[in-house]
Amino acid sequence: MRRDHFLVVGRSCVRRSRWQGTLLSLSCALCAAACGNDDDGSAADTTGANGGTSGGAGGSAGSGTGGSGIGGSSATGDAGSGGNAGNAGTTSSGGAGGSGGDGGAGGSFAAGGTAGAAGAGAHPPEFTDGQDIFRYDTFGDEQVWTDVLRMHEVISEAVSPSTALSVGLKVDAEALPEGILEEVDLDDPATTVALLGLDAVVGLRARVEDGVLVSVGITCALCHSNVDDSVMDGIGKRLDGFANRDLNPGAILALSPFYADEEAQEVLTSWGPGFFDPRFNQDGINHPVLIPSIFGLADVPLETYTGDGPISYWNSYVAVTQMGGQGQFFDPRIGVEVFQSPDRVTPQLPALYDYQVSLETPAPPAGSFDPDAAARGQALFEGEAGCSDCHRGTALTDAGMRLHAPEEVGAEPLTAERSATGLYRTTPLRALWQHPPYFHDGSAATLEAVVEHYDTHLSLGLEAEQKTDIVEYLKSF
Ligand code: HEC
Ligand code: HEC
Repeated sequence: MRRDHFLVVGRSCVRRSRWQGTLLSLSCALCAAACGNDDDGSAADTTGANGGTSGGAGGSAGSGTGGSGIGGSSATGDAGSGGNAGNAGTTSSGGAGGSGGDGGAGGSFAAGGTAGAAGAGAHPPEFTDGQDIFRYDTFGDEQVWTDVLRMHEVISEAVSPSTALSVGLKVDAEALPEGILEEVDLDDPATTVALLGLDAVVGLRARVEDGVLVSVGITCALCHSNVDDSVMDGIGKRLDGFANRDLNPGAILALSPFYADEEAQEVLTSWGPGFFDPRFNQDGINHPVLIPSIFGLADVPLETYTGDGPISYWNSYVAVTQMGGQGQFFDPRIGVEVFQSPDRVTPQLPALYDYQVSLETPAPPAGSFDPDAAARGQALFEGEAGCSDCHRGTALTDAGMRLHAPEEVGAEPLTAERSATGLYRTTPLRALWQHPPYFHDGSAATLEAVVEHYDTHLSLGLEAEQKTDIVEYLKSF
């Protein structure tokens, strides 16, 4: 299949990568448009290895201000110094604004560090509030979803609300005028276009002119928001931070004529609901992971299943290389280097970070676990079963102190091997009741299966009752 254009990369202005010439092709015509000005006011190419800060070059176009750097934690997270990484760094002073360029791009990403925000240039961001950015900012990814994937045409022609709901898309009931659902035809694609015009489809953002869908892009909320189903299945109030495990990103992408060939269809339809492969278009390996919930991360210094970097590091990676947003991302550890100017991602990262760490873990439903058994389970978790050797501290993770080899925890090795660290982060345990299955690959269907896995792998020799007690404790997070 044409991996070079998978989601985004073909139009990224990639100057150097291990895939140069093939996977991350420069051949895309649109790249020229996106990168035309890449010598003017472009990135200060500073790297902040070991969590240093890289300041952005000042924007140009006359009014550029210096970029504010936001420091990332050390990529290896030594000594837990990465707590609340992303905003903890020093503010760098901006570089001198170039003259005559368009908005200056921010400093590029270092290993584990985050980039400086772009100088205020000719392209002020559409959103500044973190919640708005999370819900509505496409970072210009219409360049992929509309221009390349033609999803606006696919939706107008063939995606009724019923179809949209069947691939896991959610509808924000609060964006709907009263009574509208009783009046519309949920089997008519025109209704989907109308819903998009109301900004009511979670994670999709569209422009509708005279009833015609002219462009569509995606936002962070597509994968990391759900709804409370209060109106009907798939329609309700937004629940930001909740993984959308009904969402079938592969099935959605497979609707695009761009992926009509058999090989693409085979890959995309192999993922299934709740899974996405955020590295497939980088390394060509088809090995998806579960979409995680992103609440309760305030005390977690390293993000992703493999602890690749702090929140803003990964946000930038996904926005640029997966969503197709216009921006820049640089990490020599994985050989990815993307520059697009102006950078519409980097300036959004600080506010986006603040919003993410404000998302709190939802409490378990009343009566959903047995408190006495949970208390016994806690004693085992912290004692005999040894869980708290790794799941410790407020977020129940030792991320920031160390990561773990796959064989330590009995996890499949490939996901780790593909990542920047080669290791797994101890998953911070949050609202476990809310998101089965478990582990990065969903290999444990239930919490019972999780405990069974550890009992076998770590030869714990737990009695049946002890296992049940630990499960009750896990339900209480
Ligand atoms: C197409 C679906 C998709 C979209 C869109 C998406 N993500 Fe993710 N996100 C994922 C997947 C899959 C992972 C797991 C990757 C991993 O850990 O290797 C993830 C991981 C994360 C994590 C790390 C969670 C943890 O436990 O460490 C954060 C934070 C995050 N995403 C935030 C965002 C933000 C902010 C955006 C928008 C810029 C975004 N995501 C867009 C699918 C998505
Ligand atoms: C050696 C360190 C270590 C020990 C000991 C350990 N864990 Fe884990 N735990 C991890 C790692 C690493 C992961 C991520 C594995 C993956 O995603 O494949 C994880 C994942 C989990 C998850 C999945 C969370 C989710 O949201 O998917 C649960 C639940 C869990 N552990 C519970 C336990 C329990 C219960 C024990 C004790 C019986 C335990 N762990 C012992 C390191 C450890």
